[in-house]
Amino acid sequence: MTAGRTPGRDLEAFALKKKVLRLETLYDVSRSLTSAREEKALLEEILARAVPVLDAARGFAAAFEDAEGSGTVASLGLEPEPGPLAIASDPFVLDLARAKTSLARGRETVLGTGVESVAGVPLLAGGRVLGVLVVLDREARGGDAPSFDEEDRRFLVSLAGLVAPALEAARRLRTLAADIDRLREENRSLKGSLSVDEILVGDAPAMRRAKELVARAAASRVNVLVTGESGTGKELAARLLHAGSPRREGPFLALNCAAVPESLLESELFGIERGVATGVEARIGKFELASGGTMFLDEIGDTPLAIQAKLLRVLQEREIERIGGRAKVPVDVRVVSATHQDLPAEIRGGRFREDLFYRLRVVEIRMPALREHREDIPRLAGHFLGRIAARDGRRAPSLSRDAVKALVDYPFPGNVRELENLLEGAAALVSGDSIEAADLQFGIANEGRGGGDDLRMTSSDLRNVENAHIRRVLAQVKGNKSRAAKLLGVSRRTLYRKRI
Ligand SMILES: Nc1ncnc2c1ncn2[C@@H]1O[C@H](COP(=O)(O)OP(=O)(O)OP(=O)(O)O)[C@@H](O)[C@H]1O
Ligand SMILES: [Mg+2]
Repeated sequence: MTAGRTPGRDLEAFALKKKVLRLETLYDVSRSLTSAREEKALLEEILARAVPVLDAARGFAAAFEDAEGSGTVASLGLEPEPGPLAIASDPFVLDLARAKTSLARGRETVLGTGVESVAGVPLLAGGRVLGVLVVLDREARGGDAPSFDEEDRRFLVSLAGLVAPALEAARRLRTLAADIDRLREENRSLKGSLSVDEILVGDAPAMRRAKELVARAAASRVNVLVTGESGTGKELAARLLHAGSPRREGPFLALNCAAVPESLLESELFGIERGVATGVEARIGKFELASGGTMFLDEIGDTPLAIQAKLLRVLQEREIERIGGRAKVPVDVRVVSATHQDLPAEIRGGRFREDLFYRLRVVEIRMPALREHREDIPRLAGHFLGRIAARDGRRAPSLSRDAVKALVDYPFPGNVRELENLLEGAAALVSGDSIEAADLQFGIANEGRGGGDDLRMTSSDLRNVENAHIRRVLAQVKGNKSRAAKLLGVSRRTLYRKRI
């Protein structure tokens, strides 16, 4: 002590200095928390700050993971470093968790060792104890009491209040990162295991041809047009074309040109600049989003002529113009389109542009109607029953011989989708292990059954059968088109287009 100074004033100056140091520490911690950090780094930081500021000799901090006692630990001056389980089950730590506030004590046993003094604080978020911060053995300095006091406890509470939210955020970020990793991995393995043969079921010559074309065209970068009736697997083929292509890591975007009103189709495809009309937010179009990947234009035959002209320009110039935008944006997109329409007939009727047709159909893949590969019906049925059973976590029911025969004989106007829906219904209703013919709800008395006449039908006969079938289903559901579409296994729009 220097002459001229009273011990009282010295003490005052010391206390003031201490306060400033603590405030500075809290300020530094709060600043350093603005950047995301891992739990371990956070715990190390608060420990490294708390121990010297509180004149402690040692300390530890822990974040608990679950009830089993896993977690993250940081320690200072403790050899060996205590594990998370030892910390979580320590009586003083348990007291902290119970008290939900800071505690300070004199002589105590902590982690199985006697200490002269101890103070700690739980790290709380939303009332839950995420972890603890504990300092041990206060070193007496400047005439201070040799144990932690009220002020130390307050400092610990402030520090914990700053760090706990950051700790929770770090934990969320870690689970999120783990989720993303898992999904990426799943995605990769799904894509890796995606073979055309496993996804598109069927070995009949017509189906083999389609599958071979899908596999071959996938590898190239040309635009592909997929044609075929409703429910023949056009969308499935389009997805396989992307998944098997060198662009598989890029995005796959689908747009149903028949489902989007004409007034919105252009902005859906090419995007819109902000403020084109009052209240319009800028939106990126699907073409731009699909850059580096595949754009799937479903029901391309239903695209209005005005949009067809714009599509053609995009395909020719490989750049898009957003609505209301001045700059052109280059896009690198492979286009796969699909339609159930007869596009050459649409071209003759003046409803589809011929030049666009040739741009879209560098390669055409026609998906066969189910009646062209009836021999695949038993295998397709087995495929769907297996999938339904796996989804529901039970054993797949088998099909009786009569049921198989009934399926093979049925005309299936809704193609594979109708078959899938039929089996879904049968699997839901069947009580035993085997699906009988009677369990199959064809919707109407099954014309094809027994006769086999339909095999010799011409295509216009088929249309008549289809129309009669649709009319009867409609009558059965009292004209409710949504229900009829469901029963038939086709989309409502498809049903509307039949113009019955
Ligand atoms: N060969 C096949 N193997 C396995 N599943 C198939 C096959 N063909 C179609 N499917 C299934 O049938 C359903 C209909 O297929 P998808 O949606 O691809 O047909 P679509 O031709 O696009 O029909 P729509 O013209 O009505 O849009 C899907 O559930 C699909 O998984
Ligand atoms: Mg489709």
